[in-house]
Amino acid sequence: MSNSKSMTFIARTGDVEPGCPLQVHISGRPPIAVVRLADEFFVINDTCTHGEASLSEGDIIDGEIECPFHSGRFDIRTGAATMFPCVKALTVYPVKVEDDQVFAALDAGACADTPV
Ligand code: FES
Repeated sequence: MSNSKSMTFIARTGDVEPGCPLQVHISGRPPIAVVRLADEFFVINDTCTHGEASLSEGDIIDGEIECPFHSGRFDIRTGAATMFPCVKALTVYPVKVEDDQVFAALDAGACADTPV
């Protein structure tokens, strides 16, 4: 696993159903969520940037995740806020899939600061 030194194990691919975000707890940090869109996996912060909602309890609609509290949305691929009241981008982490395991570089997340 030489390429995975800075990558953290997140989940097994088989545990992530398409369209059904999975909340993951990593020791020492706020929860994250892994999302499967077709055959691609994305790892994002689980907490909405508008409030304390868990996005893994929200719906996935056309590549976006909808917050269960006030129905704000984020682009899952970029983290950009796409629907009010969300205006601050969500952090999206680089992902690597190796065999049947999803890894993410949790120290290398990026936000797409795109205003709504
Ligand atoms: S807490 Fe997510 S939209 Fe308000």
